[in-house]
Amino acid sequence: MHLPPRRFSAPRLALFRGVERLCRLLGGRRAYRRLFLDRLRVREELLAVPGLPEGLSGLTLAQVSDLHAGPYLGAGDLGGLVAILEERAPDLVALTGDYCVHAVDEAFGVLDELCAYRPPLGIFAVFGNHDYKDRREGELEARFAARGATVLRNRGERIPAGGAVLAITGIEDLEEGRLVDPAAARAELREGDVEILLSHNPSGAPALARPGCVAILSGHSHGGQVDLPFLRRFGPPHPGLRIPLGSTTLFVSRGVGVLGIPLRLRAPAEVLFLRLVPADC
Ligand SMILES: [Fe+2]
Ligand SMILES: [Fe+2]
Repeated sequence: MHLPPRRFSAPRLALFRGVERLCRLLGGRRAYRRLFLDRLRVREELLAVPGLPEGLSGLTLAQVSDLHAGPYLGAGDLGGLVAILEERAPDLVALTGDYCVHAVDEAFGVLDELCAYRPPLGIFAVFGNHDYKDRREGELEARFAARGATVLRNRGERIPAGGAVLAITGIEDLEEGRLVDPAAARAELREGDVEILLSHNPSGAPALARPGCVAILSGHSHGGQVDLPFLRRFGPPHPGLRIPLGSTTLFVSRGVGVLGIPLRLRAPAEVLFLRLVPADC
């Protein structure tokens, strides 16, 4: 399940840093907020689940991914996201990683806004490859916990909902997590549980799909971010937005933030709302 971490050459990293500095000087953060964060796309997905317990019918999760706090996103920039969450009032919020760009400190400044909306079933998170910088992910986990959010590190929780149970599981990042253990994440699940798995990197989804796991929520690819053929090779592969894998469906979020340049093309910044309905609905 582990993937080799991507590492870039020193000249390429220096080029990235130079581009970032230039974009920041030219007002990249303000521009990104105005053009993308204040106009976040609301993506609605309906998932028909055979045999869905009545108590879970209509349950809605919001998925927020790839904030990448840092050069182009910081404290005070998530008002649009908070307003959408408060207006739509999902039952649960799932955060699928990459909260920072260069260091976890960048993420600390946006956690209050990120966790401002308190859904009735809770906020659950996993880490993305950027969140292990300097191996300080434990600090990030503690700060999430202080705001009532649970980081699922190869762990799952069975959440009572409307007389039924929703199982939400999460694994460490496939590239940077020291141990990726889906079996541990699923250890507490019981026969018949409706499971939703959080995994930052979508590449592992085919191996993670199984009966009972109705959805896998991932991010990481940014939907290509600047989705032009000659630029795609600079980012991780984007498998698509919604991919059926037997009885499991993989949903890939385009994310909220950006890397490299404060620009998106054919890949709008988004928050995804996933609603569960019975298959015969
Ligand atoms: Fe990312
Ligand atoms: Fe990532």
